[in-house]
Amino acid sequence: MRKKIVAGNWKMNTMLPEGFNLAKEVISKSAGVPTDVELIVIPPFTHLSEAVKITKGSRIKVGAQNCAMWDKGAYTGEVSAPMLGSVSVNYVILGHSERREYFGEDNQMLFKKINLVLENSLTPIFCCGEKLDERESSNHFKVVEQQVSESLFGLTAEQMLKVVIAYEPVWAIGTGKTATAEQAQEMHAFIRQLLTKKFGVNISNEISILYGGSCKPSNAAEIFAKADVDGGLIGGASLVAEDFIGIAKAF
Ligand code: PGA
Repeated sequence: MRKKIVAGNWKMNTMLPEGFNLAKEVISKSAGVPTDVELIVIPPFTHLSEAVKITKGSRIKVGAQNCAMWDKGAYTGEVSAPMLGSVSVNYVILGHSERREYFGEDNQMLFKKINLVLENSLTPIFCCGEKLDERESSNHFKVVEQQVSESLFGLTAEQMLKVVIAYEPVWAIGTGKTATAEQAQEMHAFIRQLLTKKFGVNISNEISILYGGSCKPSNAAEIFAKADVDGGLIGGASLVAEDFIGIAKAF
């Protein structure tokens, strides 16, 4: 059966000492979370080595928020997938809407990044999701289908099995406006159907699809109860250990 996952995307927040304390708190509070839920903290690059050290021996896994499109070379300011592997990170978020919006990342670039992450034995968390105007004009399925097909359909079935998907409607990110559990389920089922058509039902049934966008302890249970929702990618609420763990306990 597919993995349940709750991942905390800290974005560009926390100084190192704060991040240290947050990771410690997440570890200490994690005892009450069902053991079949994978808990992941995803701090900024500067904190990764330290986060890996702190979480060693605990159930908490560590992820990065992005990686470069190349594996090494003259790309000032970039961090590569092999570098992330060398500090023993487990996951890498790719294609977050903030990367698409502010850094011009497109589906083809993300296909390259996904390949590099997989080649380095890391797990990509591939984000997709429509903007408000795209939903209002009823183009949301088309947009998500294009993101999924252009970034994932060039993978082999074996590679696809190692990818985690996060559906994050852009209008719900950081806005306090969560998608309803029905809206989340509808899109998750649609994404799974796309995967079934391309890779077959045995593979699509194994792929975790997380929901992201203003997820909180108060709304997580209803969303996670839906058949095709396998967990959450949490932004704002992941900066408060109690809220993050409260969400994970919603399973
Ligand atoms: P949010 O962010 O929980 O603050 O809405 C989610 C995300 O961007 O991953």
